[in-house]
Amino acid sequence: MQTIEEAIKCLQQGGVVAIPTETVYGLAADAAQPQAIKRIFTIKDRPADHPLIVHIGSIAQVQDWAEDIPEMLWPLAERFWPGPLTFILKKKPQVNKLITGGQETIAIRIPAHKKVLQLLVALKCGLAAPSANRFGHVSPTTAQHVIDEFGDDIDGVIDGGACEVGIESTILDLSVKQPRILRPGQISQQQIEDFLGMPLSAMTQQSLRAPGMLKAHYAPKTPLILVEKSALDSQLKKCLADNLKINIWSVSRPHLQHKNIVWQLLPTDRNEFAKVLYHKLRQFDQTSADITLIQHPPKLPEWHGIIDRLTRAAAHFSLDSYLPELNNCAEVQDKLAKEKLKNSSL
Ligand code: TXA
Ligand code: MG
Repeated sequence: MQTIEEAIKCLQQGGVVAIPTETVYGLAADAAQPQAIKRIFTIKDRPADHPLIVHIGSIAQVQDWAEDIPEMLWPLAERFWPGPLTFILKKKPQVNKLITGGQETIAIRIPAHKKVLQLLVALKCGLAAPSANRFGHVSPTTAQHVIDEFGDDIDGVIDGGACEVGIESTILDLSVKQPRILRPGQISQQQIEDFLGMPLSAMTQQSLRAPGMLKAHYAPKTPLILVEKSALDSQLKKCLADNLKINIWSVSRPHLQHKNIVWQLLPTDRNEFAKVLYHKLRQFDQTSADITLIQHPPKLPEWHGIIDRLTRAAAHFSLDSYLPELNNCAEVQDKLAKEKLKNSSL
């Protein structure tokens, strides 16, 4: 897809087009066309109860989708939009529940990307757009990632370059009395609290209504293990003893060097880290490595979004369950058979 005009035409005719945003690429369709929305779910292989975010081009359009809007929405939107913050609001009765996964609430945001804003302003409609990856996979941050993921299954991709933020938007639930974060992102809880001058309610397991919060979301194919800095060398030794080929992403080069170890420098700046995270996970999947070790980022509130995505990406895996001498239960064997550890002795 070469031009915005082509994308506009395609979307108006019920097409599904991948769009760049500042966070990740989205798989967009006109939110007012149920058949187009259904196609998004089919293409992504996404369960129908996982609601979509509606992307709009102006703050005034919030009222097309939501009602009983709390007063604090307007200053928050002025401050953080266009940007990586999604609000959950009470939906208008006429909003199709296909978009909201059957819920009475709706997720809305204005993305900060020149090309998609141009598209939204021209279309004057809302675009429903989940991240442009198959359900459970790593989100795409370049047009090429989207093409790798879907090929000809979609009607086009608008190439907007590499996403600046790199992880999905922060989701703030304003449909409840006590606003709360449902998904952490690069706009931190602290930033929102400082702006509002009040605390948000704590993010509990129960408050995790956003299905993107499934424990094992954002999963790469290559087993991924998060490792504390102090344990990097000992974990590397364990992997080498098992003859594994290892990608390691850490702040400094490990003391241990070996032909089976490929090291890359991990950014210490959280914006830089988020920006390259998904790209790196995809790159690691394209190597012949059996396992990826990533140094655990600083356990600080502003790293919450990154830690959240990394923890989920690593949720299937634990180093001990990959080492035969430590664990040989049937479930792990089965998992191993399906995973990339083809050279393992198991
Ligand atoms: O940065 C982003 O948010 C990207 C870009 C494309 O905008 N979009 C994105 O969409 O991450 P998706 O579908 O991959 O994740 C949207 C999340 C899901 O976890 C979904 O469950 C949640 O938003 N969500 C949508 N509507 C909701 C609602 N009414 N209540 C609670 N969570 C909702
Ligand atoms: Mg997603």
